[in-house]
Amino acid sequence: MSQIRACIFDLDGVIVDTAVYHYRAWKRLANELGFDFTEEDNEKLKGISRVQSLELILGWGGVEKTPAEKLELATRKNTWYVEMIQAMTPDEILPGAKEFLQEVKAAGLKSALGSASKNSGLILERTGLLPFFDVIIDGNVVSASKPDPEVFLKGAEALQIPPQQCVVFEDALAGVQAARAGGMKVIGIGSPEILGDADVVVSGLSAFRVNMLDAL
Ligand code: G6P
Ligand code: MG
Repeated sequence: MSQIRACIFDLDGVIVDTAVYHYRAWKRLANELGFDFTEEDNEKLKGISRVQSLELILGWGGVEKTPAEKLELATRKNTWYVEMIQAMTPDEILPGAKEFLQEVKAAGLKSALGSASKNSGLILERTGLLPFFDVIIDGNVVSASKPDPEVFLKGAEALQIPPQQCVVFEDALAGVQAARAGGMKVIGIGSPEILGDADVVVSGLSAFRVNMLDAL
């Protein structure tokens, strides 16, 4: 019998395919600043905050900006990103995600969102997934970026479930590290080469079932 009583889900790249929108918007910003970055570089942006993403990207381009300019750049990127997510529909829920959230509920497990995004409310509303979460912990209430475990520990605390009885679903290396640092089990969503530290790595939630939690 599984000890797991709660599932904590990252949003971008686990529940919805917004990782590609983040990539497009950051790429556009870098291009406007006169440089480019690869999809491999983009992996490093997954799971980390907007401000930290900008710092990394500016570093790759060897570009220096003042704090006021950085704020303007992050806002510009977010405006493009919000334009894209505003047009999202439930069709953009990743395969198997809604079914898995339903399965979690039916099994009597709790669920929380644990995302660095400040746009999670808009995304959950656009995709109709808001009712599946008992608790929402996102970039609006968290100060330390993954791999710091704050986001997941706050989720566990709000659900009133000990970290050891929580499992995190993550597509980002920083997120897998955050879950580990918080003493939680973690299911990697993506490639084993990147997420090898996870307890189990699957290609997507369509390849995962609640009864697989028993093996953790
Ligand atoms: C998620 C994404 C990151 C993104 C962060 C902040 O964790 O994986 O790529 O930078 O959220 O998103 P926001 O919507 O607040 O810019
Ligand atoms: Mg993610």
